[in-house]
Amino acid sequence: MTARLIDGKAVAAALRAELAARVAALPYRPGLAVVLVGEDPASAVYVRNKDRAAAAAGFVAHTIRLPAATSEAALLAEIARLNADPQIDGILVQLPLPPQIAPAHVIAAIDPAKDVDGFHPLNVGALASGRPGLVPCTPLGVMRLLAAAGVAPRGARAVVLGRSAIVGRPMAALLLAADATVTVAHSRSRDLAGECRRAEILVAAVGRAGLVRGDWIAPGATVIDVGINRGADGRLAGDVAFAEAREVAGAITPVPGGVGPMTIACLLENTLTAAAGRRQAGR
Ligand code: GUN
Repeated sequence: MTARLIDGKAVAAALRAELAARVAALPYRPGLAVVLVGEDPASAVYVRNKDRAAAAAGFVAHTIRLPAATSEAALLAEIARLNADPQIDGILVQLPLPPQIAPAHVIAAIDPAKDVDGFHPLNVGALASGRPGLVPCTPLGVMRLLAAAGVAPRGARAVVLGRSAIVGRPMAALLLAADATVTVAHSRSRDLAGECRRAEILVAAVGRAGLVRGDWIAPGATVIDVGINRGADGRLAGDVAFAEAREVAGAITPVPGGVGPMTIACLLENTLTAAAGRRQAGR
């Protein structure tokens, strides 16, 4: 059997179109501030893509570019200004930051109601304890992909490979909130392949090209590949050995064109959620 392909590009385009329609019906335009410190070329590309997608969907995108030598105090002052600006509904500080700036200090300074990355400790705690809050964009994108593919987490055995703060941990919390039976496997797990083989839904987010082999996958499983690894040949590869996996899985996301496009679409979804939430709270 050859797996059905889950087309993240198409699902993301549909989500962006739905968000654009919801924004067009509002009496205001939600504002998203993206802060980029320094000139990391990959970050610059991401930030430009976020900017374009936001503007195309009717959001007001503010990109704030600060020099690489910016002090932590200066960045915190910029965040205080954005927190106080009523036109700004969402704030995203692009990571990684230069070494003189502690990311934890910056994340904790963002108004949790504007924290569209879902990285603030208050939002992390809300997700961990099953309360409403803003949730990280990539795992949210995976949940949207599963829904679009008609894969229901409820009651299913889900295995998350990877325990990062940005993807693995929030991914596990979201699957648990959706009533899956969740296992988090990682580099110290005794039998990674065996854990993966029990998964009906497998989410790979470890950042190692081709780690997940075809014989790690249960026949018919849904495989979501969050990995974006650039090979020596310059090509992008996921964490899953795609050619092998698609002969075993029931449904699978490609890299590129799977989870990647969902992240920015979910950033816009979070910005709209934040805008509505702030107005509901009268802020
Ligand atoms: N850098 C790489 N991924 C991310 C992300 O999801 N959010 C932010 N702020 N920076 C990133």
